[in-house]
Amino acid sequence: MRTSFALLTALPAAVRALSLNAYDLGFYGVYPTQNFVTLGQPTPWAQISQWDPRCDKDGGLILMSPRGVNVPNPGPVILDSRGNLVWSEGKFGQAMNLQVQRYKGEDFLTFWSGTSGGPHSNGSYYMLNSSYEVAHTVNSVDIDMGGDLHEFEITDNGTALFTIYEDKEVDCSDVGHDGLCWIDDCLFQEVDIATGKLLFQWRASDHVPLSHSYKLRHKDGLTKKTAWDFFHLNSVEKDDLGNYLISSRHMRAIYYLDPKGNILWSLGGKHSDFTDLSEGKASNFKWQHHARWRGNNTMSFYDNHAKNVFHPLAEHSRGMLVQFDFENMTVKLLQTYNHPDNVLSISQGSMQVIPETGNVMIGWGNTPAYTEFTADGEVLCNTHFGASLFFMILDFGWVKSYRVFKSQWVGKPKTPPAIKIFAGQIFASWNGATEVAKWRLESAKSLKATDDDFAVVEEIKKDGFEGVFMRDSWERRFVRVAALDRAGEVLGYTDVVDSTFEEYIPISLFQVLVSLCFFLVVGFFAWTYREMLKKQSSRIFALRRQQKNTQQYELLNSRENVDDAV
Ligand SMILES: *[C@@H]1O[C@H](CO)[C@@H](O)[C@H](O)[C@H]1NC(C)=O
Ligand SMILES: *[C@@H]1O[C@H](CO)[C@@H](O)[C@H](O)[C@H]1NC(C)=O
Ligand SMILES: *[C@@H]1O[C@H](CO)[C@@H](O)[C@H](O)[C@H]1NC(C)=O
Ligand SMILES: *[C@@H]1O[C@H](CO)[C@@H](O)[C@H](O)[C@H]1NC(C)=O
Ligand SMILES: *[C@@H]1O[C@H](CO)[C@@H](O)[C@H](O)[C@H]1NC(C)=O
Repeated sequence: MRTSFALLTALPAAVRALSLNAYDLGFYGVYPTQNFVTLGQPTPWAQISQWDPRCDKDGGLILMSPRGVNVPNPGPVILDSRGNLVWSEGKFGQAMNLQVQRYKGEDFLTFWSGTSGGPHSNGSYYMLNSSYEVAHTVNSVDIDMGGDLHEFEITDNGTALFTIYEDKEVDCSDVGHDGLCWIDDCLFQEVDIATGKLLFQWRASDHVPLSHSYKLRHKDGLTKKTAWDFFHLNSVEKDDLGNYLISSRHMRAIYYLDPKGNILWSLGGKHSDFTDLSEGKASNFKWQHHARWRGNNTMSFYDNHAKNVFHPLAEHSRGMLVQFDFENMTVKLLQTYNHPDNVLSISQGSMQVIPETGNVMIGWGNTPAYTEFTADGEVLCNTHFGASLFFMILDFGWVKSYRVFKSQWVGKPKTPPAIKIFAGQIFASWNGATEVAKWRLESAKSLKATDDDFAVVEEIKKDGFEGVFMRDSWERRFVRVAALDRAGEVLGYTDVVDSTFEEYIPISLFQVLVSLCFFLVVGFFAWTYREMLKKQSSRIFALRRQQKNTQQYELLNSRENVDDAV
């Protein structure tokens, strides 16, 4: 009842959000994609519904990892601030938490990749250097379970912090269960990246009573398979004091731990240590993610605020910035960051303060959207990468990205730029190259031509992922494309290809048969329809003729009558 009421009242907002365009009504699918001739895999097609030039100021790129039932090729993706593709890589499979992190003075693209199901995930953390090669891989230490997707944070001291979920049998009398039950215990490890040595490990069940959980136990925990996800650890950060800040979704609390792992305080949850000076608004968050220190005793996090798609209308997700006073143990709300359409994402999500501008980037987690705000909460740029019909009214989570970041990144791929000739045009792109400003088409008389043999045909400005040249019938039929930087220096050349050779999209026998069947069926129906129309129209003609005759007859009759009368 309540739900249907909520749905009805949500409709105007939903209609506004959908703004009734083909993209948002799903005409291009739940997950609309851009498909490039030179890439051979679908990539997100971002819709920017609100734009401000201030989003271009820092030159940052958008880092995300699309996944969900409607994403055929989950993996790490980089877009520029205008939604153009910069990099998409399928070889790692499902990835999460793509970001740029610094290790020993060098920037790396870091992400988790592996398998996930329910709260469990089992994988490794990858660190790609500027040439997109795996420079480091980090794994869990001395434990059966692999690394968990929720966190991978590199500290200034060259250590990595990451989460692990492990089934464990524990005493459950605390939650009214006789004897032992199974829980999804949550751990985090701190590992030295260079040596792989374990420096520290923390285990939730050693420190937090099960009864503090908001996750209803129902029949969970009776078997290993149905282990109770009582804690759900989703972020870990270490500060200069050597203390750890962690976020537990199912405790609805953020904890601060000393270097030995003892809890110093908690904010939110059933036993918050702080007096809330904002009438509860600084600590009434629910199912939150991504807690981070922001200096001056301020902390940011992403408040999901619900974990069920059927939720009261007034609830929505938001980024939050709160300030602590540790002398008086108080907390107050400084700022919230709300989506212009008040989306509510029931899981995942992130809040980043962009270092160059102080702007805030919110990744809406289960909802395929990200928004850049000014520090004081003004929406600058608002983007989504799924049809809003499938998340605005009920958030199905069919397309999502665990977190979204905006960062400076310079990519210089080791692989050369790609070239393809298709439909009378020459296409070039360079997956991951961030410094290309122009494409230059060059031609030569032979496939084995040297640099000196090539003549410049045409130069075009790079605009988007792929450069396109019209094919012509040149005397010099062998072509290549040079990628140039802003100063006009050559960064790389594609292979040399024969411009008279057309690349055809490979079609399998199966596809040919299916197409044939399709045309036969459509043809049959069209023919039947035509025949039907023909019959119908001849019947109508016959009727009309009949009618006409009758009318003439009647007319004659009436005339006769008139004549009679005269
Ligand atoms: C990137 O890492 C690979 C593999 O470790 C290494 O061979 C390459 O030199 C590195 N590239 C850069 C630019 O550091
Ligand atoms: C985790 O994944 C690794 C590598 O695929 C596998 O060897 C290991 O058995 C998995 N562990 C669990 C607990 O599933
Ligand atoms: C880095 O190491 C120094 C010296 O051991 C220590 O005081 C500091 O807490 C460490 N910082 C982090 C973030 O690990
Ligand atoms: C802390 O506050 C001071 C004074 O308001 C300000 O100048 C400084 O930039 C702030 N630092 C951070 C990290 O926000
Ligand atoms: C703590 O509260 C006292 C009394 O209200 C006040 O004087 C003091 O300034 C507060 N401390 C801070 C850091 O605001």
